[in-house]
Amino acid sequence: MKAHIVVLPGDGIGTEVVEAGLEVFQAVAAAFGHTFTTEEHLLGGCAIDVTGTALPDETREACLQADAVFLGAVGGPKWDDPNAAVRPEQGLLGIRQALELYANLRPARPHPALASSSPLRPERLKGVDLLVVRELTGGIYFGEPRGRRCENGEWLALDTMIYKEHEIRRVTHLAFQMARRRRSRVTSVDKANVLESSRLWRQTVSEVAGHYPDVTLEHVLVDAMAMYLLSRPASFDVIVTTNLFGDILTDEASMLTGSLGNLPSASLGEARNSHGLPRGLYEPVHGSAPDIAGKGIANPIGAILSLAMLLRHSLGLEREANAVEAAVERALLAGHRTADLARNGETPLTTAGMTELVVEVLVAQVN
Ligand code: IPM
Ligand code: MN
Repeated sequence: MKAHIVVLPGDGIGTEVVEAGLEVFQAVAAAFGHTFTTEEHLLGGCAIDVTGTALPDETREACLQADAVFLGAVGGPKWDDPNAAVRPEQGLLGIRQALELYANLRPARPHPALASSSPLRPERLKGVDLLVVRELTGGIYFGEPRGRRCENGEWLALDTMIYKEHEIRRVTHLAFQMARRRRSRVTSVDKANVLESSRLWRQTVSEVAGHYPDVTLEHVLVDAMAMYLLSRPASFDVIVTTNLFGDILTDEASMLTGSLGNLPSASLGEARNSHGLPRGLYEPVHGSAPDIAGKGIANPIGAILSLAMLLRHSLGLEREANAVEAAVERALLAGHRTADLARNGETPLTTAGMTELVVEVLVAQVN
């Protein structure tokens, strides 16, 4: 198969994990006889430095033409001035919106070999296999009005949490469809005891659930969910929630796997690519990690597993996706760890070292 991928390395460790991921990606191409072409573009802080904007038109246009987009991370202290007119994060939110990627899939399945890297007791992690479906183009991230003004000599700032029925419906349908292919349970997370937008969320999710009598639905308040993710994480299957709650809960869920560096994500919408499949955007859940950027020690697993999701969802290459996931599992089983996962006494691998091992296992597996 031929596929064309737009690559947006972004800032900080984004560039490092993207380079690692692409090595695995090209190893897949070679091992399975595919031709994957890639084209790099600017997004985030690096784009601000060169063009003055976080999402240059050229980047947006290239993404719209691609079969899929692979992204690293954006942001860093250099662009963190709270009074700055442009911010790197606008690039990320802008590209999600431009591609209309309303559903962000964030799976979290702790690898047994990493149980000791998680702060949770191993018995709590047994059987944990979550898929968080985060609404990605609505809610408080995009609501208007927003801004700052001075009133009666005092500054005030305002954001708007807003959801329309159709925005809730489409992401909920996707969550239920995913649940059908898994353990047929959906947990919808909201704050319906306080927020009007959450009451509409809950009502709409319940209506959509009527189309899926074979799937069980429960509603959980977000504060309770923060607790249950630690006390009984194995009891959940698909979790569907708003943009902000999904952002927060997935950082929490990542710790079940031992590190934020392990988590991949896929963002999907209605648009189809040249293969008739979703033109998705794939990125690790972690950020640009300025504290370790440039050191070559970042964990590439989140990025590598994001490419496995790309192979599966945007290219329909299930076998190839499984091969990448199996290679990561085997590398971990063999005891290989980057610094974020290494325990006392374990020698941490660099980003390149870990990537090389995954490629080695992958190639050996296929041949
Ligand atoms: C994420 C990130 C982004 C978000 C930031 C960088 C804007 O935290 O992808 O989870 O909040 O969506
Ligand atoms: Mn986040």
